[in-house]
Amino acid sequence: MSSEMIEGVGTVTIVGVADDHPTPPSPSIWGDWGEMDPAARDIGLERWIIEVSDGIQTDVVGDLSAHAVWYGPTASSRAISIGISLVDEFRGRRIGGVAQRLLAELLHDRGIVRVEASTDVENLSEQRALERAGFVHEGTLRLAQGRRDGLHDLQVWSHVRVPPE
Ligand SMILES: CC(C)(COP(=O)(O)OP(=O)(O)OC[C@H]1O[C@@H](n2cnc3c(N)ncnc32)[C@H](O)[C@@H]1OP(=O)(O)O)[C@@H](O)C(=O)NCCC(=O)NCCS
Repeated sequence: MSSEMIEGVGTVTIVGVADDHPTPPSPSIWGDWGEMDPAARDIGLERWIIEVSDGIQTDVVGDLSAHAVWYGPTASSRAISIGISLVDEFRGRRIGGVAQRLLAELLHDRGIVRVEASTDVENLSEQRALERAGFVHEGTLRLAQGRRDGLHDLQVWSHVRVPPE
């Protein structure tokens, strides 16, 4: 479990949950998939929920996921790609950047060097949140994501922790 306080908002905590844990409702145009491919279920998702507590009340405000991306057959070629969605009423309070930074640090602590996030080239909110989380914009993945309304270009961002020599 990792936490960080945001002044005026509360303490943001990410809590690991089982694969089939209920997802807090957080619809957005960026997650309007249309028909999903059953093969995508084998991706091996790990999940966390995001909680915010003001000391009296704790709200579940969103969720995070992570899956492996291999760039070669060696342990050091295994990156982790993360995703996030916040419940509508909790967006715009800087929770997204903090939660993604907490998850990147948690994954680095496990030995993962490269944490990635991809987002639609038009999703300015997530781009801003990733920047706040310390991710670096690397480039564009052309026509990488199909949603109900067609194919979309994605930006790819990374958060790296170089291992000690
Ligand atoms: C993208 C997301 C994770 C960002 O987290 P967040 O906590 O809302 O991020 P921030 O509070 O740092 O806001 C980032 C930017 O979002 C925009 N924003 C502000 N209020 C917003 C709201 N209510 N809804 C959406 N975006 C908002 C602003 O441009 C803001 O930048 P600014 O503070 O410089 O003006 C969150 O808005 C979300 O879950 N959105 C819907 C799902 C989604 O896009 N997931 C990512 C898919 S790759």
